[in-house]
Amino acid sequence: MQRPTPTDVEHEVTPVDMIVSKSDEEGNITYTNPIFMKISGYTKGELLDQPHSILRHPDMPKVIFKYLWDNLKEGKEVHAFVKNLCKDGEFYWVLAQVRVATNPDGSFRNYVSTRKNVLPKAKAAISALYAKLLEIEKSEGVEASEKALMAFLDENGVTPDTFNDFMHKLNEE
Ligand SMILES: Cc1cc2nc3c(=O)[nH]c(=O)nc-3n(C[C@H](O)[C@H](O)[C@H](O)COP(=O)(O)O)c2cc1C
Repeated sequence: MQRPTPTDVEHEVTPVDMIVSKSDEEGNITYTNPIFMKISGYTKGELLDQPHSILRHPDMPKVIFKYLWDNLKEGKEVHAFVKNLCKDGEFYWVLAQVRVATNPDGSFRNYVSTRKNVLPKAKAAISALYAKLLEIEKSEGVEASEKALMAFLDENGVTPDTFNDFMHKLNEE
C-alpha cells in the first residue's frame, strides 16, 4: 500500500473517542475497534495483519518507539503521546496506553493499546519536544535523541517509575 502524503490538517479526536487496537508480538494489528477505523480512515481489511507502523507519522521521533518497545519487552506498560497519520494524510494526536496482556498461564497473549484525546496544552508541549528530538535524530542519530529525551525527563524530575504519570499530568486541564 502506498503511504499517504501528510497534510497539515488535524483530524479531531473527542474526549469520548476511545481508540483500541491489539497486536501480536511484532506489533501486527490483530484487532481494532470501530472508532480506530473511523478516525484512521482504514477499513478492517486494510488494517488486520498490517504493522501498526501503517499509522506512523513522519513527525514522530524514532526514540519514542524505541522507548515503547524497550519497556513492552520488559513487560512494562507505557503511556506516550503519539501523532498518527490517517489514510487521507490528515493527522491525529493521542495519548496511548500500551500494555502486554497475558494468558492465565502467564504466556504472551497480545499487546493492547487504548488511546484517548490530547488537550491543546499537551499537544503544544509535546510537538515542541518531538520536533527537537527529530531534529537531533536526523543530524546525530537515535542515540543522541535518546540522550536528549533522558535529559528532558531529568530536567522535569521524571524517573522511569513516574514517566506514565507525568504524561497524564501534561494532559490534564
Ligand atoms: C499495541 C501497539 C500499538 C501501537 N500503536 C501505534 C500507533 O498508533 N502509531 C504508531 O506509529 N506506532 C504504533 N505502534 C508502534 C509500531 O509498532 C512501530 O514501532 C512504530 O510505528 C515505528 O515503526 P517503524 O520502526 O517501522 O518506523 C504500536 C505498537 C504496539 C505494540
